[in-house]
Amino acid sequence: MPPGVSSQTATHLRSFRHAVLSWYRSNRRELPWRTTREPYRILVSEVMLQQTQVDRVMPKYRAFLKAFPTARKLAHAKTGDVVMLWSGLGYNRRAVSLQRAARAIVERGSFPSSFEGLRLLPGIGPYTARALQCFAFHQDVAVIDTNIRRIFSRYFFKGAGTLKNIGRVASGAVPHGRGSDWGNALMDFGSLVCTAAAPKCGVCPLRMSCAAYRCGKQESFLRVGRPQPRFEGSRRQYRGKVVRLLRDAPAHTLPAAAVRKGLKKPEGFVTSIIDELERDRLVVREKGRVRLP
Ligand code: ADE
Repeated sequence: MPPGVSSQTATHLRSFRHAVLSWYRSNRRELPWRTTREPYRILVSEVMLQQTQVDRVMPKYRAFLKAFPTARKLAHAKTGDVVMLWSGLGYNRRAVSLQRAARAIVERGSFPSSFEGLRLLPGIGPYTARALQCFAFHQDVAVIDTNIRRIFSRYFFKGAGTLKNIGRVASGAVPHGRGSDWGNALMDFGSLVCTAAAPKCGVCPLRMSCAAYRCGKQESFLRVGRPQPRFEGSRRQYRGKVVRLLRDAPAHTLPAAAVRKGLKKPEGFVTSIIDELERDRLVVREKGRVRLP
């Protein structure tokens, strides 16, 4: 039993585990990254899924792996081609950082499998490192994303709890030797039943023992971080517009004036957007022109 977990919680945990896994047996989603254990493919899926919904990721994931089937192919690709294939997923910076990770993997000669080794790859945060440990290397580590945190917050903490307490229970809940099934089961359960808005308690096999449901707080959950800022009119929206303009331009290069015209915004604003993109290595400036790298 993990430290700080009472025997009552341990029993609660056992029945929770059992119910989630048996729900998963008949409700699991068939997702393309679940048919592989190849770390590179899992890495691509996890980076794409960081800020983009499963349905939007699926076609992009397939197309990306067709173009760049290995870390080596991605490492040696033109960054502009990587950015082009990423376009439509949003947060294009992830494409550049994924390629940097692929280059680091090729350079070191193998894919790291430890948490510390994975964290040394550019752009790989603690969540993605654990997801790789779990889904690619089948280590029994807890993967705790927003959906999974919400399930634990509701079931064990009446929709409250602290990050630390939830993390402790979630880490102690991983069934021995089944970490990857467990992570997938929780992800599906969080996406299909224990949803953020309007959870499907009517079909939930856990509701009678769910702390939140039992006290009528089934809509609550611990919220972490800031809510997503508005997209319309945001700098992110304009960054995406510039990348799309370049993607669709002949030879993927345009005079800076054409970028300004395409954005229909004041010069200072457009310049600052291009500065930002250049800093993130998403575009290159050259002799009054802007192009994909
Ligand atoms: N979100 C992040 N990782 C995921 C995965 N492996 N399956 C489904 N959704 C995810």
